[in-house]
Amino acid sequence: MDKNQAIKVENLNKSFGKDDAFVDVIHNANFTINRGELVALIAPSGAGKTTLLMMLGCVSEPNSGTIWLGEEKVYDNRWLTKETRKIRREKIGFIFQAHYLIPFLNIIDNLTLISQENKIEEKDSKAKARELLKYFDIDKKETAMPSQLSGGQNQRVAIARALMNNPEIILADEPTAALDMNRSIDVVKMLKKIALEQDVAIIMVTHDDRMLEYCDKIMKIEDKNVELS
Ligand SMILES: Nc1ncnc2c1ncn2[C@@H]1O[C@H](COP(=O)(O)OP(=O)(O)OP(=O)(O)O)[C@@H](O)[C@H]1O
Ligand SMILES: [Mg+2]
Repeated sequence: MDKNQAIKVENLNKSFGKDDAFVDVIHNANFTINRGELVALIAPSGAGKTTLLMMLGCVSEPNSGTIWLGEEKVYDNRWLTKETRKIRREKIGFIFQAHYLIPFLNIIDNLTLISQENKIEEKDSKAKARELLKYFDIDKKETAMPSQLSGGQNQRVAIARALMNNPEIILADEPTAALDMNRSIDVVKMLKKIALEQDVAIIMVTHDDRMLEYCDKIMKIEDKNVELS
């Protein structure tokens, strides 16, 4: 097995519902994404982008197929662990369209919240949070509340939060949708830098073709088929 492999999927299938409510979403997907790669996931609304991310993030169960995250096979026609939460906590960072910071916690407490669940000592998680805030040039906002930050700054905090657990994989569902063009390019360039410097695989859903030039690969879902190029 290739040590560089971050996500590998074989014959992955996903549909929802039965009879009249049946929706076939992903049909026999096969692809491999390596560490260090920023992959843009682009497809029309309703094509299955979020569904695919949620399966890779061990949130939503496929119907069949195989998923490896890093060197660990996590799904083989069933979850291979009872604790999909543990896999998520250890391997995956999520970024969403909205930043979902907790409004009544200040910036640093928003970052260290997850570490409490991972049973990391407060002083270690604070140090990690400060390092990330500095990396994203928002260290002066440590004690500010999310409402006191701009949209772009809050999204930077959300990206920092996704890195708190040193994930191997970041799944970003339209992280730039709420931002203007320049801020969007900043965020995408930042994700590219993270992929390279932290050796993380990133899948980023986008509807904006202008972001594609900053990405290493493009994944498309067309008529239930997933293509990576
Ligand atoms: N929990 C669910 N139950 C039933 N159908 C679902 C469920 N989740 C998603 N779907 C259906 O699966 C299809 C893919 O949805 P998904 O949210 O993955 O699309 P998307 O590509 O992320 O779209 P968008 O760009 O609008 O976010 C849609 O037809 C949707 O209605
Ligand atoms: Mg979606």
